[in-house]
Amino acid sequence: MPKTLLALNWKMNKTPTEARSWAEELKEKYAPVEGVELAVMAPALDLSTLSANLPAGVAFGGQDVSEHDSGAYTGEISAAMLKDAGATYVVVGHSERRDYHGETDAQVAAKAQQAQKNGLVPIVCVGEGLDVREKGEHVPFTLKQLAGSLKGVGADVVVAYEPVWAIGTGKTATADDAEEIAAAIREALEKQYGEKAAEIRVLYGGSVKPDNIAEICGKPNVNGALVGGASLKVPDVLGMNDAL
Ligand code: G3H
Repeated sequence: MPKTLLALNWKMNKTPTEARSWAEELKEKYAPVEGVELAVMAPALDLSTLSANLPAGVAFGGQDVSEHDSGAYTGEISAAMLKDAGATYVVVGHSERRDYHGETDAQVAAKAQQAQKNGLVPIVCVGEGLDVREKGEHVPFTLKQLAGSLKGVGADVVVAYEPVWAIGTGKTATADDAEEIAAAIREALEKQYGEKAAEIRVLYGGSVKPDNIAEICGKPNVNGALVGGASLKVPDVLGMNDAL
C-alpha cells in the first residue's frame, strides 16, 4: 500500500514572507502521522523559502511546469529548475490551467513526461465540469481525459481527480462519488501500468476540509487529497493530517 498523500495546493497565494511564517508555524506544531505524506505545492517564488523552513519529511513542489527543457519561453519554469530548488512533485493539468490557459491533454502529457525526465513526480489532474456530471457522463469523460494526459507517461505518477464543480465552491463530491471515479481510474491505470498501478496514488480534490477528509480518504481507491482553500491555514492542515 502506498502512503496516503496529503497534497496542498496554495494556488496563487502567499508571498515568500507569508510562506515563511506558514512554514515556521507548521514546524512548531506538526507531528508526522504514520502512513501519511505531506507535500506543499507552492508558487515557484516560495520554493526556496519552503526548502529552508519546512519541517523534516514534508515535501514540496510546483504548480505547473514547462513542457520544454529550456530556452526562449518567457515566464515559464522548467522541470530542471524545480528539481534544483528541491521539489519532489509538480501539479500538471489542474483545471484552472486547462480552463484559463487552454491546456490540452497532449500538453499535460508532455509536461508530465518532462517532469519525470527530470526526476519529479507529476500530479496529473483530471475531472469533469458540472454540465458533464449532470449528463451522467463523468466517468467516460474523466477516463478519456486521463488517457490523453497519461500518454507516454511512466508509472511514477500521482493522479488527482477533481470535479470542477467542487473546486472552491464548498460543494464536495460524496465519498461514494469519489470512490466511483477512483475505482474507474484504478482500472484504467491497471490496463496501462499492470502491477505497478497498485502503487499509484489516486487523490480526490474539491472542497476537502478537516471534517470530510477522513471519510473520503477512507475509500479503498482514494489514496489522499489535493487541497486548495483549506491548505492556507496551518490549523486546517494539521486538522486534516491528524484526521488521516
Ligand atoms: O488543487 C486543489 C483543488 O483545486 C481544490 O481546491 O480545496 O479550494 O476546493 P479547493
